[in-house]
Amino acid sequence: MQNRTAIGVANANIAFIKYWGRADDDLNIPVNGSLSMNLEGLYAETSVTWGQSADTLVLNEVEQTGKPLQRVAHHLDALRSRLGIEGHAAVSSVNNFPAGAGIASSAAAFAALTVASVAAAGISLSERELTALARLGSGSASRSVPAGFVEWYAGTDHETSYAESFAASDAWNIVDVIAIISEAHKATGSQEGHSTARTSDLQDARVAGAAERLRLCKQAIFDHDFGTFAAVVEHDSNLMHAVMMTSRPPLFYWLPPTLTIMQAVRDWRADGLQVCYTLDAGPNVHCLCIRKDVDQVSAALKNLSGVVDVRVARVGGAAKVISSGEC
Ligand code: PMV
Repeated sequence: MQNRTAIGVANANIAFIKYWGRADDDLNIPVNGSLSMNLEGLYAETSVTWGQSADTLVLNEVEQTGKPLQRVAHHLDALRSRLGIEGHAAVSSVNNFPAGAGIASSAAAFAALTVASVAAAGISLSERELTALARLGSGSASRSVPAGFVEWYAGTDHETSYAESFAASDAWNIVDVIAIISEAHKATGSQEGHSTARTSDLQDARVAGAAERLRLCKQAIFDHDFGTFAAVVEHDSNLMHAVMMTSRPPLFYWLPPTLTIMQAVRDWRADGLQVCYTLDAGPNVHCLCIRKDVDQVSAALKNLSGVVDVRVARVGGAAKVISSGEC
């Protein structure tokens, strides 16, 4: 019998309202709902071929063993047991953004792995089901499956914790201008960070206000109200980092240039430029602005010391299967 293979592609995403902390560590059920936009052009492309005697992983053309392979095999185990797939898979994935550039890649990787694995098994699922399955690999991967601006409903179990698009990619001309910072920083990964979030005295307060911030953020996107959007997005990012810094043990993701950029962004906004910042679990600063101001924001970021590169991403589309069949 021939082996079935498929190739999936998924964009990374940047959260406006963050996921930080889990109610269920096995299912990646978050303690609060979150919002994000997909990042056009920053993607993972993953091929999956079932019918192998063991799971294997090639990442950016390098054969992987140890933790990266274990994490992928663990996700394949979840797909095997939930979908009744038999046998192992050969997985090969490339990111089109440089490894080590500090742009969170697990969301794109697990979204692409999920859609490719399901297609290669010849199974057809709804987008909602695909988002829930992607969540099992990496929580934020659920948000990389649907197109455009996406909400991930926290839910209470596997079926109710899923993501969907609430506005199309062209609903608002927001662009993410990402300032990449010079010093490579091996930070604690988000997997461990989610588990320690509950040890911060500030986590309950962050979670208590999350639904209202999410509502405000969504409305600001519908209304193209940049002022409200900027205030709520920066506040939500600051709250997440306050939780990180006050967890036990504490997590400090910022480097000195991170704060320099955050202050500069606030100054530029005070001077009338529509730009705000948000950060993931790393030192790089995602600067969100309106499309007409991208060149100005990029040039200003490049002038700041500590910024080694700037990447620009518009609002991206959904994860997709670009080929599937027998091999
Ligand atoms: O999906 P994970 O487990 O890598 O967690 C992502 C967490 C943040 O990027 C910090 C926030 C978010 O909502 O994307």
